[in-house]
Amino acid sequence: MEPLIRELTDADREANHRLGAEAFGYAPDGQPSSLPPVGGAVLGAFVGDELTAKIRARDDEIPLPGSRTLAMFGVEGVAVAPEARGRGLLSPLFRAGFDRARRVGQPISILFPTAAGIYRRFGYEVVGSLEQREIPMSALAKIKAPERISLRRASAADLDAIRLLYAAWAAERLGPLTRIRPSAPILSADYLGSPAAVTLAIDQSGKLVGSVRWTRGTGYDPETSVIEVEDLIGLTPDASRAMWRFLGTFDSVSSRVNVELPSGDESLTALPAEPAPPAKEHRYMLALLDIPAALAARRGVPGLTAQLPFKVTGGFADGVDGQYVLKAASGELHCSRTDSGVGPTFHARGIAALYGGAQRCAGLRAGGMLNGPTDTDPVWDSLFNVPTHVRDYF
Ligand SMILES: CC(C)(COP(=O)(O)OP(=O)(O)OC[C@H]1O[C@@H](n2cnc3c(N)ncnc32)[C@H](O)[C@@H]1OP(=O)(O)O)[C@@H](O)C(=O)NCCC(=O)NCCS
Repeated sequence: MEPLIRELTDADREANHRLGAEAFGYAPDGQPSSLPPVGGAVLGAFVGDELTAKIRARDDEIPLPGSRTLAMFGVEGVAVAPEARGRGLLSPLFRAGFDRARRVGQPISILFPTAAGIYRRFGYEVVGSLEQREIPMSALAKIKAPERISLRRASAADLDAIRLLYAAWAAERLGPLTRIRPSAPILSADYLGSPAAVTLAIDQSGKLVGSVRWTRGTGYDPETSVIEVEDLIGLTPDASRAMWRFLGTFDSVSSRVNVELPSGDESLTALPAEPAPPAKEHRYMLALLDIPAALAARRGVPGLTAQLPFKVTGGFADGVDGQYVLKAASGELHCSRTDSGVGPTFHARGIAALYGGAQRCAGLRAGGMLNGPTDTDPVWDSLFNVPTHVRDYF
């Protein structure tokens, strides 16, 4: 029997909670949340009257290099009732999710997979990871405090300045949430709420150049006294060093910090030694749902003028497969459908990996995600060479 797919309403909140609790092991005292969720929707697949599978759509937005933004369909809470697994219920749910994304104008989708293999057939490819590292306090204590930076505790009066700091930091990046949409009001008053604390780094001109949110563990015991660091943002090397050094002042009473940062985060270069490999990681995946809108949202390369016909195949979202032309001129990109022109053929996952800065053309070719003429590969590589940088797990 074909499942019925529809958006869940508050009448479905108990069934939605039960499905989520079985899949993700919510704490027994967890309370069902109201539906629809703020800034999104939950799509459910009903077999008969039973809610049997669901995905949550998060209406969010990411920055792109050059102070641009792009709306995205964040996917989370993907669950199928245990007895109904393996019957293909995810396909109609993702089809409905992609239709919704098209209606509300979201050209890309991002998710954190529990297993990448679940999502590749929908056009997603891994473009990075959010890594949890354990850094010994003894390493941080060795950092010399930069003289030109002073530190102070943030208060509610600093929230606007923290938002501006985050926006300045995000303006040249691809991927972290803008943190201003209703689905992700991360920089709200709760950000400063206990037990976490936020410490600010100020330069000599009085400008806010860094911020770190940290939560101290209990006592002095090496296992319990760990400091959890969620959000270390430094606009300058001195700011990053000052904040690492500040955390290192806990050396006598705490063994280490646990810090969550994306792979390759620049703040790690301020450490005196290469940190140990990540203890845990959340990989993240990207899919392009509307090729012309996603490509045209990106900044071009000043001085680079090119006309690049190409094809996309193997997509799952309606309208992804087809023939296109990408035009680069005056630092801008334009992309449209075409019915003529020869050029390379990207697999939908291949163009996602290129877009997210995870692969260059040579890697895509080796992985079977790009075929055909190679002459424009260097141009594609120079247009899409920014790594994805995600901060907020969802
Ligand atoms: C993951 C989950 C949603 C998959 O449900 P399902 O009913 O098996 O999904 P479908 O039948 O629609 O799709 C199954 C496909 O995904 C693949 N798949 C499922 N689980 C997978 C895994 N752990 N690793 C790799 N691929 C997986 C299957 O191989 C299958 O592909 P195929 O059709 O090419 O053989 C379900 O097992 C579940 O609810 N798990 C617990 C919660 C969870 O991990 N959610 C994902 C959060 S990101």
